[in-house]
Amino acid sequence: MNRPALPFTSPWLLAPMEGVTEPSFRDLVLARNSPADLGGAFTEFVRVIDRPLPRHVLVRHLGDRRFGQPVGLQLMGADLAALAESARRAVEVGAPLVDLNFGCPAKGALRGCAGSAVLKDPARLEATVRAVVDALPDHPVTAKIRAGYDDAERVEDLARAAEAGGAAMLTVHCRTRAEAYQDEVDWTRLARAAAAVSIPVCGNGGVDTHADLERLRRETGCRLAMVGRAACGNPWIFRGVAVRAADAARFLVDYAETLRSLGASTKGAAGRVKQLLVHWTAGGLTGGGAEGRAPWLREADPARLLARLVEAAGDGRDPALNPVLPAAARPDREALASGTASPARQEPARA
Ligand SMILES: Cc1cc2nc3c(=O)[nH]c(=O)nc-3n(C[C@H](O)[C@H](O)[C@H](O)COP(=O)(O)O)c2cc1C
Repeated sequence: MNRPALPFTSPWLLAPMEGVTEPSFRDLVLARNSPADLGGAFTEFVRVIDRPLPRHVLVRHLGDRRFGQPVGLQLMGADLAALAESARRAVEVGAPLVDLNFGCPAKGALRGCAGSAVLKDPARLEATVRAVVDALPDHPVTAKIRAGYDDAERVEDLARAAEAGGAAMLTVHCRTRAEAYQDEVDWTRLARAAAAVSIPVCGNGGVDTHADLERLRRETGCRLAMVGRAACGNPWIFRGVAVRAADAARFLVDYAETLRSLGASTKGAAGRVKQLLVHWTAGGLTGGGAEGRAPWLREADPARLLARLVEAAGDGRDPALNPVLPAAARPDREALASGTASPARQEPARA
C-alpha cells in the first residue's frame, strides 16, 4: 500500500490533550522547541457526530499560526461518512495530516461507539481508518489507540487493524481504557505493537523526562515517542534544556497573557495556568514534587496567582527560551472557512 509520507521533523511529538493543546498552549510549546527537537503536535480531539464538521470549527482548532512543525488535526467519530468528509475538509483548510482517536475513555465517546469503544472491535477500527484513508489519497492518516479496552491481550490485533486500514503511523498509549491515567506503565505492550506491524509506531505513556524519549525508543523499538502531561509541566522537554525558575514563570505569564488577549477572564486564565501547575516540573519553580506545587495550587485569588508569577518571572526574558510568538500567518479565517482563501503553507516534509 502506498502511504503518504509523514511530515514530522523529529521523532518526538506533543500529544493531543483536550482542553490543553488548543492553539494558545500549543503555539507556545512549538515556538520553544525547534523542528529538530519537537517533530509535530496535534489538536485536541474534535468530535464528529452525524454530520461533517463545519470548516470554521476545523480552522479554529488549527489556529492562526504556522511553525516549522506540522500540527495534525485529530478527529473522533463513529459515523464513517461524516468522519471522512470532516477529514477531507480538515485537509482543505490546511491540516497536513489527520489523526483518528481510538483512545478517549469519556462516557460520551463510549455511548457514541467512538474513542476507546472501538478498541473492542479491531474490524471496526480497520474500517474507520480505511474510510478516512480513502477520503485522503494525498495526506497521511494516523491513528491513536490505547493498548486495549479492559486488558492489553489484543494490542497486536489492534495495531494490525490500523495498518491494514492504511494508517501511516500508529500511536499507542500503553495504558488500557480501564487503567485510565494510572502511574504505572508497561512499555512491553509498545514493543509488542511495534513488532506486529511495519508502519511506524509512536510510543506514548509515562514519558516523564527528556531522557525517557530515547529510552522509550530503545526499549520498545517504537520509531517515535509522544509526550502528554510531562510537556504540560515542562514545555522544553523535547529540547532537554535546563531552565531557571524565572524562565518557567515567564512561560506561565506568557500563557496567561495569551489567554487574556483572546478574551479569557483573569479567573479563567489563572484556572488554565493551574491546570499546568498541577504537572509543573520546569525550572524548580514549584520546588518539584507535590509539596512544592501545593502553595501555588492553594492560591485562591486568581489575580494574586498571576501577580506572583509575574514577580517570579522578573524583568528579563531569555528569547532563546521564551521567544515572543510570531504574528499569525494565516489568511482571513472567514474566507478560509468559506473556501474562498487557500490555507497557509506548511513547511515541506522533512522526515
Ligand atoms: C487532559 C488530557 C486530555 C487528553 N485529551 C486527549 C485527546 O484529545 N486526544 C487523545 O488522543 N488523547 C488525549 N489524552 C491522552 C494523551 O494524549 C496521552 O495519550 C496520555 O496523557 C498519556 O500520555 P502521558 O503519560 O505522557 O500523559 C488526554 C490526556 C490528558 C491528560
